[in-house]
Amino acid sequence: MMADTGAALPAATLRRDPWWLEILPTIALLGGFTLYALYVIFVNNHYYAEPYLSPFYSPCLAAQCQHLTLPLVGRWWTLSPALLVLWAPLGFRATCYYYRKAYYRAFFWAPPACAVRDLPKAYAGETRFPFLFQNVHRYFFYLAVIVVLFLWWDALLAFRFPQGVGVGVGTLVMLANILLLSAYTFSCHSCRHVCGGHVDAFSRAGLRHRLWEAVSRLNERHGAVAWASMISVALTDLYIRLVAMGVLHDIRIL
Ligand code: FES
Repeated sequence: MMADTGAALPAATLRRDPWWLEILPTIALLGGFTLYALYVIFVNNHYYAEPYLSPFYSPCLAAQCQHLTLPLVGRWWTLSPALLVLWAPLGFRATCYYYRKAYYRAFFWAPPACAVRDLPKAYAGETRFPFLFQNVHRYFFYLAVIVVLFLWWDALLAFRFPQGVGVGVGTLVMLANILLLSAYTFSCHSCRHVCGGHVDAFSRAGLRHRLWEAVSRLNERHGAVAWASMISVALTDLYIRLVAMGVLHDIRIL
């Protein structure tokens, strides 16, 4: 075994720039989203303003839902219907490779930035519980795809008003949201692996090669769509919530 010959640094970092500024947006955005999501889940109201269903409550599976997607759970379920589904998309985000880097830096300081010493003394990475759990990300990807399909269905239903087919501001909000969520989901590293992994020769797998190339191009923007889709989910819920509460009037465009 080789001896550790690295020089001991006199400080946690030799960087002189304000490196800590980089983590402030992450703390604000992830912290803000977490608090908003907790409020939305437990308030259990104002998540449906016909024909718009909040993405936090979709698919709505409990008989007590304000807008039922699938009647899978009976009236015995008296808690928020969001609890039945939200663990899947939130688990997908929490185990996302991009978010992992962001929150390990911002909240655990492991490390807080490039060339800055870790705050925890013993670093075991993702080799032990609880962070060993991050390896289930690929399975959350499959669940997230199912949720995305339901959200596309909700976006289609957002064109169906009691008076007939139309387009409201909420329809456009829901469409923008599902486009961003689809870009986030299908730019996932696990999706890239599903498309192009375990292929010995791309020359003999033309379709998989084209899919892998398309996902790889999307994957280059994964960090940006991770933030954009997270913000759009919260704003879509906020818009529907304010319409349901009567604070906002949904304008019909067509
Ligand atoms: S790596 Fe980010 S969602 Fe899979």
